[in-house]
Amino acid sequence: MTKKRIFSGMRPTGKLHLGHLVGALANWTKLQDEYDCFFMVADWHALMSEYENPADLKANTLDNVIDWLSCGVDPARSTIFIQSQVPGHLELYFILSLITPLGLLERCPTYKEQLRQVANRDLSTYAFLGYPVLQAADILLYKADGVPVGEDQLPHLELSRQIVRKFNHLYKTDCFPEPKALLTQTTRLLGLDGRKMSKSYNNYISLSDAPEVIRKKVQGMFTDPARIRVADCGHPDKCSVYSYYEAFAPVLKKQVHERCTKAQAGCTECKKELAVLLTNTLAPIQEKREKLQKNKKYIQDILSEGRQKALLVADKTIDQVRGLLKI
Ligand code: TRP
Ligand code: SF4
Repeated sequence: MTKKRIFSGMRPTGKLHLGHLVGALANWTKLQDEYDCFFMVADWHALMSEYENPADLKANTLDNVIDWLSCGVDPARSTIFIQSQVPGHLELYFILSLITPLGLLERCPTYKEQLRQVANRDLSTYAFLGYPVLQAADILLYKADGVPVGEDQLPHLELSRQIVRKFNHLYKTDCFPEPKALLTQTTRLLGLDGRKMSKSYNNYISLSDAPEVIRKKVQGMFTDPARIRVADCGHPDKCSVYSYYEAFAPVLKKQVHERCTKAQAGCTECKKELAVLLTNTLAPIQEKREKLQKNKKYIQDILSEGRQKALLVADKTIDQVRGLLKI
């Protein structure tokens, strides 16, 4: 039986952090056994918001791919490639934009939120409005059945499905399957300051942080604000530190929980142990990273092979779509 296909992408906007590991990469690596996986660096998507400042784009792209490989994304089983190297993405983006109602894009919650929240960049552009259309094109180009994403991407997936239904209906075809979201089931990893871990809040631990950096960052983490003295019983659910135990120490976490709620140990100790745990978790990833960084040729080879494999599928879809549009 042929494997079902899944597709996912990540924007190369900077170094990857523990949030990416828990939220996406751990899931990607698991799915590789069961599915025919396509994993893409979404550099066009990155440019939609970073167009004024593209200087780091290439370096970030390579850096992210190195992180993917270090975390276990396997080029022997999965197709790893760069969006801008496969022209079909932009071609299908345009074709889908022909039939995408403007209102759907203007009402998209992620669009409205970004326009409101992002202050240091001008996102009121023609292309940025079409962000979800390009994402739909990414997915449809490979006719993916499933898309592993976090909850924040659900509106985009819903838009993709609406576009599929309209396309299939208009051109009397069943050319595209409706892509389903494969929601990443993980515990919510909090940032150092208790907010969501995010590059823009500068509250993250990056996959390449050295042990000393990790120790300092963990030391400064927010804990349960009600726990002032060691004798006070703590509430792990209100503590950033505990969210890391939940994500990285499924066995140990019970003990940490109990120690905290019964005031058997203090936060200083709890943090020290967490720093060790994270350092050990990242050690094999960083070791792999070191090796890969010295082997740029190997990375380039993986990406060019990925490009070839992606082109093979993408070109076929584009031919089919052109046929349907009589062009
Ligand atoms: N929009 C996604 C994000 O910001 C990245 C992305 C681009 C993507 N194309 C995709 C995700 C296709 C899934 C499928 O995380
Ligand atoms: Fe958080 Fe640990 Fe302190 Fe409890 S003991 S509040 S889990 S740091």
